[in-house]
Amino acid sequence: MREKLEQLKCCAMAAIAAASSVDALQDIRISLLGRKGELTSLMKGLGSLDPAERPVVGQLVNSVRDEIEAALGSALESAQNNFIATRIQAERIDTSLPGRRAQKGTKHPVSLVIEEICSIFAGLGFAVAEGPEIEHDWYNFEALNFPPEHPARDMQDTFFVENNLLLRTHTSPVQIRTMLKQKPPVRIIAPGTVYRCDSDATHSPMFHQIEGLMVDSRVTFGDLKGVLTVFTNQLFGQKTGVRLRPSYFPFTEPSAEVDIACVICGSKGCRICKNSGWLEILGAGMVDPEVYRHVQYDAENISGFAFGMGIERIAMLKYGISDMRLLFENDVRFLRQF
Ligand code: PHE
Repeated sequence: MREKLEQLKCCAMAAIAAASSVDALQDIRISLLGRKGELTSLMKGLGSLDPAERPVVGQLVNSVRDEIEAALGSALESAQNNFIATRIQAERIDTSLPGRRAQKGTKHPVSLVIEEICSIFAGLGFAVAEGPEIEHDWYNFEALNFPPEHPARDMQDTFFVENNLLLRTHTSPVQIRTMLKQKPPVRIIAPGTVYRCDSDATHSPMFHQIEGLMVDSRVTFGDLKGVLTVFTNQLFGQKTGVRLRPSYFPFTEPSAEVDIACVICGSKGCRICKNSGWLEILGAGMVDPEVYRHVQYDAENISGFAFGMGIERIAMLKYGISDMRLLFENDVRFLRQF
């Protein structure tokens, strides 16, 4: 028994000294001191010894166990320290290495123009409003005074979805949503994506508009022209001439198409302005009383104007882009230039 104990201690110490990892040491602990471990089974053998020998051998077993435990304890501690030290070494950041440059994209020209226009109108006290791209017929048409079957709907090349749902053809439904939510005074700008079934060098089935709406107790057509003049001067440069031509929209009366002096040729006449010296950039007008009726505004005591413009067209004019499709092909060689 004594011999066995001596031998076991020897082997155990050698194994502990040879083990290099925390896991290996845990395994050794289990194989020696665990419930079915070698030392544990030796201790169970104590019962078969001569009663006189029992206490002596018992003591010996205890001291062997203490020694093994002490050796295991210190080996575990240093294995753990080693493990941490190697990890710190391996994961240390070398601050002398040159940095990895992040691949930065650029903002899309359409986004740039939206941001610029919103910030110009923010300066005039307009808040930003938004609405859904899948819209009810009622908001896109009916409340804007396009009765069912009205021929004005024909101009809108609508993508219908189902059950009176459609892809909004303009941002004008945001006028309705805003007026239903708040009482006058209203001064909002509503940028967003709109859809029309139309596609060529100057039309895309998906494009962007910015809507404007101002309603208060005494808003006039003069205010509309003033706001649009300040706006176009800021967007295209000082003293860009603005011209209003009579037009028709069901939800404004009177209505106007708004032109700016051609920024490409300086009004001399070129291919882009079709030799007229003017470029049409937006539709506008005084909000029709019929629209106020749909949102329960008191048409007798308020007045207001609305306008809507296509962003792609403005981006094309501003950056001299000749084909609208370039804006949506997402060729990075094109997009990187902005
Ligand atoms: N929603 C109109 C269009 O897309 C533009 C517009 C907006 C006209 C607001 C007048 C007032 O054609």
